[in-house]
Amino acid sequence: MGSIEPNPVDASDIDSRTPRGRRLLLRWLGWGAVGVLAREIGVGVIRGYLWSPHAGPFGGVIDARPAADFRVGDVVVQSAGQCYVTCVPEGFLALWWYCTRPERRCVVVWQPTAAASSGPAEADDHTFATLGRFSCPCCGADFNRYGARVFGPAPRPLDRFPVRVEQGVVRVETGRQRVLLRQQASRADATPG
Ligand code: FES
Repeated sequence: MGSIEPNPVDASDIDSRTPRGRRLLLRWLGWGAVGVLAREIGVGVIRGYLWSPHAGPFGGVIDARPAADFRVGDVVVQSAGQCYVTCVPEGFLALWWYCTRPERRCVVVWQPTAAASSGPAEADDHTFATLGRFSCPCCGADFNRYGARVFGPAPRPLDRFPVRVEQGVVRVETGRQRVLLRQQASRADATPG
């Protein structure tokens, strides 16, 4: 039985002026595009899920702003940390901006001029603010400054990240591995300033 001879591609074969050259050129460009796409997907997965703390904005520690610059009732969006930092009488919370309804996980929107709704007694921002709430654009769930659900189909409060106040600055430990799930929101969830 005869052996199959390899069919090496000579650089001179890739001559776009001939039909065979054009085919080879297109094949090489196609594989190049696939390689670039695979690399981008790999980088995205590593950044989104596997990146270690301090290696990038989400997954590291984010400085929100000096604690003295907050007033009770303030809400500050921290896009790099995918969260909202809220100031309540007991201190600060960092609420992950994804709604907790598992089928959708939409990003909730802070609505500063919408009426605040009464929440559960153990986490009610209506006692110090008449305006402002987080609304989920997908199914209409509302949450207050403690992350407590005050309306709609979300099953639990907004998830949160650990907060610490160091040298007068409010800092948030972000990242998927740092998320704190809870079944009930509480005033005790706030970090004192
Ligand atoms: S995804 Fe938020 S209530 Fe539906």
